[in-house]
Amino acid sequence: MKATLLISALALGASLTAAQAEDVTVGMILPMTGQQASTGKQEKAGAELYMAQHGDKVAGKTVKLLIKDDTAAPDITKRLAQELITNDHAVALMGFGITPTAFAVAPLATEAKAPEIVTAAATAVITEKSPYIVRTSFTLPQASKPMADWAWKNGVKKVVTIVSDYAPGIDAEKWFTATFKKDGGQILESIRPPLKNPDFAPFLQRAKDDKPDAVFVFVPSGAGALFMKEFAEQGLKKAGVKLIGTGDVTDDDQVNGMGDVALGVVTTHHYSADHDSPENKAFVAAFEKANGFRPNFMAVGAYDGMALFYHALEATKGKTDGPALIAAMKGAKWMSPRGPVEIDPATRDIVQNIYVRKVEKKNGQLYNVEFETIPMVKDPFKAAKK
Ligand code: DHB
Repeated sequence: MKATLLISALALGASLTAAQAEDVTVGMILPMTGQQASTGKQEKAGAELYMAQHGDKVAGKTVKLLIKDDTAAPDITKRLAQELITNDHAVALMGFGITPTAFAVAPLATEAKAPEIVTAAATAVITEKSPYIVRTSFTLPQASKPMADWAWKNGVKKVVTIVSDYAPGIDAEKWFTATFKKDGGQILESIRPPLKNPDFAPFLQRAKDDKPDAVFVFVPSGAGALFMKEFAEQGLKKAGVKLIGTGDVTDDDQVNGMGDVALGVVTTHHYSADHDSPENKAFVAAFEKANGFRPNFMAVGAYDGMALFYHALEATKGKTDGPALIAAMKGAKWMSPRGPVEIDPATRDIVQNIYVRKVEKKNGQLYNVEFETIPMVKDPFKAAKK
């Protein structure tokens, strides 16, 4: 009797331990509230859709996604990352809505040897901050350089740049300016409004006074609607000033609400909800059904972040040690809703098509309609250093 009890207790203990060992926790840190909340909303929906479509079982393990709100404050991101690793035994961290929050976790990723999958932030240098960082979003040089080339080829000669005053904005300004000047173009002024609570009106007034052919803009996801409203109010469109930029300004989360001022705005980016492929049509339909709103590039970054993690866990046959997972992520290739993508094994950054798009009305809705493709662009910042 005693022996039987002991055996069943042992069996119970063993099965509990086995069940716990079968759980694989991924910690996702996002701005769910505050100025960057649309990024959190889109990223959460993208990651959850991937799991809903592919199930939570991977290589015999059960994937658990824990989502935490850092309000886009780097000190909170760092604390949450520590708690996720230490208390929740997260084997990988994911998300990071803005560059400073991705930077904040880099030393921890290195120390814990835990993959940091950056699915939103887009300053080029991020992946160099830890050998455990992999990115499924994009880089600002990747999107800004093709915009300069397109503008020059299409008769734009004088530009004022307006970028949010922090790392990705500086990247956008630098890469647009260097490329456009090399092509033969002229930069009349470089303006940097603050990231926090921006009022673009005085900056747009200054830009208008410079009489450029076009304004090149980078503002982070979520700030585009206000920028566009003030662009209209300050009369730049009426004065014949074109608006060009990276696709963050005509973000799919907001573009449909921007009104006619957005019509004709040309941007370069890696994702449009209007992208014409069977994979994207299925993705958009499922996403809209689950959430009641349109996916933007943040949703796709997170969807692909989950895809990359699933791929790595399959490849390691369920082994969760960081170096093995990172090794499996290097060189991974798959078909994303945005088109074909690949993780550059040398830089751990994403290689992808950049599309030139124009805002047009389709069935009464505003979309970024792609009309040119620059295939499989590597981050030019890292390419230039070689
Ligand atoms: C970053 C944030 C954004 O919302 C965006 O569209 C691009 C870059 C960033 O902080 O890296």
